Amino acid sequence: MTTSTEPRGLALVTGTSSGIGRATAQRLAADGFHVLAGVRSVADAEAVSGESIEGIILDVTNDEHIAAVAARVAADPAGRPLRLLVNNAGIAINAPVEVLTLADWRQQFDVSLFGQIALTRALLPTLLSTHGRILNVTSVGGRIAMANYGAYSAAKFALEAVSDSLRREVADLGVEVIKITPGAVSTHLTASGLAASERVGATMTAEQHRRYDELIAAFTAQAEGFARDGASPDRAAEVISRAAGARRPKTRYTVGRDGAMFTAMSRIATDRLLDRVLRSQNRRLATSR
Ligand SMILES: NC(=O)c1ccc[n+]([C@@H]2O[C@H](COP(=O)([O-])OP(=O)(O)OC[C@H]3O[C@@H](n4cnc5c(N)ncnc54)[C@H](OP(=O)(O)O)[C@@H]3O)[C@@H](O)[C@H]2O)c1
Repeated sequence: MTTSTEPRGLALVTGTSSGIGRATAQRLAADGFHVLAGVRSVADAEAVSGESIEGIILDVTNDEHIAAVAARVAADPAGRPLRLLVNNAGIAINAPVEVLTLADWRQQFDVSLFGQIALTRALLPTLLSTHGRILNVTSVGGRIAMANYGAYSAAKFALEAVSDSLRREVADLGVEVIKITPGAVSTHLTASGLAASERVGATMTAEQHRRYDELIAAFTAQAEGFARDGASPDRAAEVISRAAGARRPKTRYTVGRDGAMFTAMSRIATDRLLDRVLRSQNRRLATSR
């Protein structure tokens, strides 16, 4: 692990108002980066800013914000090169496929996939010139798609695919593309996922309630467990720091025991085996509340 606090250039981290992004901004600043910390409000920019951390307004779905960030990076007042892009921002909209509207699917993809792609495209020429690194925060949900996670997992599976394609396109050009794959981490994501689930749940018909209430109860119990027992955001930031500093980085770093276990399981378990495991887990969870 690199522990040097020698100046290491610029690192841009998205979604730093809370959770993994906030912890990562702090950790990378301690590692010697000048961190451009993407947030969506002036209040959050002020809250995140500190020694070697500069809050910047960056909604990853906003083309103007992305262009402004690219310009800021290209004209760094201290001439520091961009060494690292951490695509971390994300949301979770959890509901059964039958119930989720296309507007919800689009929002999930806009934030958790197209935003990452747009920002990566804007910064790739710079990263090619600096031989920088791109860290994409995926999820075990991008390896195994549980019930009620259709939109979230679809976006994360897609981000996995984009990461693999991009890695194979730019590795020989000196840019490393690395997947960070957390299991459960205790952050706001659970509460916002539960709020989205409740919002979408309120649109369900009586028949849909009969079909999916047990499933949603299981999801709710599981999400509460994730928030309670998940790894700390600092643990995720530590893994990101390791991936940022490794001389010969791996293509994927998992976070937490569940991150490692589900990633391994996704490689060996058949669809039917996963169906059985997840079904019995959901039955247990649904009656646990
Ligand atoms: N927590 C977990 O268990 C877990 C597991 C696997 C993967 N992940 C992934 O880890 C990443 C970070 O999530 P987290 O757990 O740290 O959740 P979090 O605390 O909710 O953080 C999400 C961050 O994304 C930001 N964000 C939301 N929409 C955005 C947009 N349009 N543009 C820019 N930023 C936006 C949020 O900003 P606002 O405050 O402005 O909304 C917030 O800073 C996500 O990609 C998530 O999918 C999390």
